[in-house]
Amino acid sequence: MSAQRILVVDDEDNARRAIATILGEEGYEVAEASHGEEALTRLADFSPAVVLTDVRMPKMDGLTFLKKARELGSDASFIMMTAFASVEAAVEAMRAGAENYLTKPLDANAVLVVLGKALEKRALKREAESLREQVRERTRFHNIIGESPQLQAVYDMVKKAAATRATVLILGESGTGKELIAQAIHQESQRRDKPFVKVHCAALSESLLESELFGHEKGAFTGALARKEGRFELADGGTLFLDEIGEISPSVQVKLLRVLQQREFERVGGTQTLKVDVRIVAATHRDLLAEVKAGRFREDLYYRLNVVAVTLPPLRERKSDIPALVNHFLEKYSDAYGKDVRGLAPGTLQALLSYGWPGNIRELENAIERAVVLATGSELTTDDLPPVLRGPRPAGVSVSSLIPGATLAQIEREAILQTMEMVKGSTTRTAEILGISVRKVQYRLKEYRPDKSGTAQSDTIDEGDDLEAEPPSE
Ligand SMILES: Nc1ncnc2c1ncn2[C@@H]1O[C@H](COP(=O)(O)OP(=O)(O)OP(=O)(O)O)[C@@H](O)[C@H]1O
Ligand SMILES: [Mg+2]
Repeated sequence: MSAQRILVVDDEDNARRAIATILGEEGYEVAEASHGEEALTRLADFSPAVVLTDVRMPKMDGLTFLKKARELGSDASFIMMTAFASVEAAVEAMRAGAENYLTKPLDANAVLVVLGKALEKRALKREAESLREQVRERTRFHNIIGESPQLQAVYDMVKKAAATRATVLILGESGTGKELIAQAIHQESQRRDKPFVKVHCAALSESLLESELFGHEKGAFTGALARKEGRFELADGGTLFLDEIGEISPSVQVKLLRVLQQREFERVGGTQTLKVDVRIVAATHRDLLAEVKAGRFREDLYYRLNVVAVTLPPLRERKSDIPALVNHFLEKYSDAYGKDVRGLAPGTLQALLSYGWPGNIRELENAIERAVVLATGSELTTDDLPPVLRGPRPAGVSVSSLIPGATLAQIEREAILQTMEMVKGSTTRTAEILGISVRKVQYRLKEYRPDKSGTAQSDTIDEGDDLEAEPPSE
């Protein structure tokens, strides 16, 4: 390690030289300045780790020097030297960001001890910063947010697969981030400087998809006015991402199989055989093995694609990622809409965590975007969330999660309301399931109404009258 740099600032030449000599003998690299102006220049061209500065100096005093240094962005540690052992001067300097102070006349040992401590503290701070940076790196894998164990396993697979040319099949429900993962595989690989080409297989008709993938020769079909290069050619040296691979027709499946086996193909209407070096990443939200069993997807193609499989878990199975994703989208859409929504009002996160997210991260992203647009303050409230997430009770609260903490009446309320919801409002079915009378269900429902007026809703009329009295206990 190279010598640490120390700047000594003092208008008294003898005092300054004495310290500089001691520090030089200890192996530090030392620079001197006799006043604040000169010291500011040395800060810039010498970039010391620590500055030892006198407090009382003509022109610019030590405190002003410290403040100016900070304004100029210096992160050097400051140790103030003061001839007046006044606590005020020390406190003021510390408040302005000084690390420590020494009283004059200086004791050589004290100087070395205080300096050593300041350097040690800097080293620790730097270490902490680099650790934080590493954590950021880990949690921000190619802009993919989330550090749940399930996602960590995905990142590991991506890294391993990226190091090879193996074909990768990405599976996962809609909105789980399959495209992001495909891009991450490309970015992690040696091919990152070569093209990443995407084909959305479901969006094109069979013949269009074929000419899109393999290109066509002039006159290959009506409308083929000129030769066109296919995506395989465009992706040469790079990665071809075949999205929604589960949707391709049997004839395209055959052609794809050949490219995967032999890395060669012909353009539509062409005779020349073209060779390419392309890594294939395919994705589908379908259960591709089930498609194979149903005879809709070629088994041999399935095995060619499924060399490495990466399965993205649905969001409901990794809810621990929700807070970080919410923060990420809050920042993204606050910036996009020029708003300053930075946090969540009480209850909002609970509502986000209780929901099942059938549309996964895409649905969460849309919900946060919408909420940011609607938000009036600096925090998102449950009112800003889409209606499916609101309601008096968050969806999916399990009755067992109320124990302990809730009263029996509250637990009964949840049991009745949730059962009602499951049976689409039938009081008869609710009563049957809970083993109580329809009258009791109706009585409770009336009780739960905010205004407590009107008659309880019921799909039966058998016992629906006389709701004012508490029914006899069962
Ligand atoms: N872990 C994540 N971190 C940040 N953003 C994410 C993450 N996963 C998904 N997204 C975002 O969610 C949206 C949906 O992701 P993506 O398009 O990759 O999903 P998909 O699995 O391809 O969905 P589909 O099957 O519907 O095409 C995108 O806007 C993407 O940027
Ligand atoms: Mg997609």
